[in-house]
Amino acid sequence: MPVISAPEDFHVDDLYVDLRPSLDTSLYLKCEGFNFAGSIKLKAAASMIADAESRGVLTGDSVIVESSSGNLGVALSMIAADKGYRFLCVTDTRCNLVTRRLMEATGAQVHIVTEPHPETGFLGARLDHVRQLCASDDRHLWLNQHANPYNWLAHYRTTAPSIATHFPDLDVLFVGAGTTGTLMGCARYFKESGRPVTVVAVDSVGSVTFGGPPGLRMIPGLGAGVRPQLLDESFVDDVVHVPEVEAIRVAHRLATAGFLFGGSTGTVIAGASGWLAEHRPDGRATAVAISPDLGERYLDSVYQTNWVSDIYGAHALDRDPIRSR
Ligand SMILES: Cc1ncc(COP(=O)(O)O)c(C=O)c1O
Repeated sequence: MPVISAPEDFHVDDLYVDLRPSLDTSLYLKCEGFNFAGSIKLKAAASMIADAESRGVLTGDSVIVESSSGNLGVALSMIAADKGYRFLCVTDTRCNLVTRRLMEATGAQVHIVTEPHPETGFLGARLDHVRQLCASDDRHLWLNQHANPYNWLAHYRTTAPSIATHFPDLDVLFVGAGTTGTLMGCARYFKESGRPVTVVAVDSVGSVTFGGPPGLRMIPGLGAGVRPQLLDESFVDDVVHVPEVEAIRVAHRLATAGFLFGGSTGTVIAGASGWLAEHRPDGRATAVAISPDLGERYLDSVYQTNWVSDIYGAHALDRDPIRSR
């Protein structure tokens, strides 16, 4: 029986959903949404804060600042509340209301950037805002998830070894790419361990991370308008780009089987299913995909019919990409 006194001390690291009955895909989904922050970003947040504390740069006077599409912001809010630090999150209009309220409920300040940068999009505009905050007051401490090695190290030390323990015969691992912290931590771990695991990055169409053209993206967490500084493609075996509309259809399909996951989980599963159908059609590969969070935060977006048809068109609700393949 786990008994904790700090919210960041609890995380379910050994829960997998077998997707064969619900999606007819031979894939295990590692669920990272079962902790008090509700997402995988708890690991990166805890790791970056522990590093800043150990270097002595985070003090009682500091105000932690960070750019986040939401989940890291919630995790940092929670840890800051527990440890008595102040926290200011810079997000943008795509951050859902519940996520913003979660941050504010745990005492964080939230700045919302409303205008994307003409070239680097919302992420570029958020980063500009963070730089201005840091320049204006030296108590502001930017952890910078986009460049901080303690982001990927969190997954190198926890997520990847845990998957390796539970799946000694792992063939393929699918990881969504936001900051690429999860991707780089897992990819480095499996490459350095010498195990023959194929690591496939899953990105959204419209993300520039792997060199594609920029485009509209509305599902938070995955993809970037600025190439992530943590990314080293030499560790990644393959990349799949998924249109958001496919991600939404997969998320809906899973919801009808009773599993309500976040939009980026839909992206990762859609990418993984397509890749497996093309590269491992016999269905015998041992494959794992990582689910960053659960679906409740997306009830007013990904799971809202009007939101989906306004953004992607009414046809978005038509067809199930996996079933119709
Ligand atoms: C919902 C969701 N999916 C995917 C990711 C991507 O994780 P990473 O930043 O480690 O690439 C994030 C990160 O913010 C996220 O919040």
